[in-house]
Amino acid sequence: MPKAEKSPIPAHVAIIMDGNGRWAKARGLPRLAGHRAGTQNLRPIIRAAALAGIKYLTFYAFSTENWNRPREEVSGLMKLLDEFIDKETQALHAEGARLLHIGHLEGLPPTLQKKVEDAIALTSGNTRITVILAFNYGGRDEIVSAVRRLLAQGLPAEAIDEQALSGAMFTAGIPDPDLIIRTSGELRTSNFLTWQSVYSEWAFPKVNWPDFSEEDLTNILREFARRDRRFGGLTES
Ligand code: FPP
Repeated sequence: MPKAEKSPIPAHVAIIMDGNGRWAKARGLPRLAGHRAGTQNLRPIIRAAALAGIKYLTFYAFSTENWNRPREEVSGLMKLLDEFIDKETQALHAEGARLLHIGHLEGLPPTLQKKVEDAIALTSGNTRITVILAFNYGGRDEIVSAVRRLLAQGLPAEAIDEQALSGAMFTAGIPDPDLIIRTSGELRTSNFLTWQSVYSEWAFPKVNWPDFSEEDLTNILREFARRDRRFGGLTES
């Protein structure tokens, strides 16, 4: 199982893009305008992350709980993903980004599933940065799904260990996130990367996601480089 390693540059950064609704409300706009502005922020942040040497960048775009939002907001978020794939896949491909998805793709409209699968296939050979979209994703759901997968394979109880479970997660083969950023000042983990985040460092910038800038990312990375990560052990002298 790939393990997080000590390095001044995090190999894997994951982002909870919170505050789109508040961003829109502050401007007298509908919530979806906030999600649209948030979607437009993905490309500059992906570019800045790739330049900084980050190899994996995960975005929490739609949780298993987000189905409980009003129907127009749910369908609006699906449409934004659809448009993102249409508009951004070629640019991401040209910049050497590999696209992956975590979560249950099968819950999405079939045409959208196909678009995501095609974008993943097109970019599968790229190595500069891996961009992972968590869409219809929940951390607890992922653990339950992993256990079911192992049981369906006929694994006996004594063969179920941390390595087996990690390998059965949506994130199999992806290193655990070194750094998780949640924008907007909220201090919750919200069912994100529950299994993988046990030794992640966290940052909670007070800015809403559509306003989160490359400079905000740079400042967080600078501060991350000064942290003493011990992974439950002691600082090496
Ligand atoms: C949280 O803000 C944000 C979300 C639930 C959705 C994030 C989705 C996107 C940025 C766009 C879709 C993604 C892709 C990849 C196309 P909130 O709505 O909870 O904000 P609030 O707490 O201020 O109301």
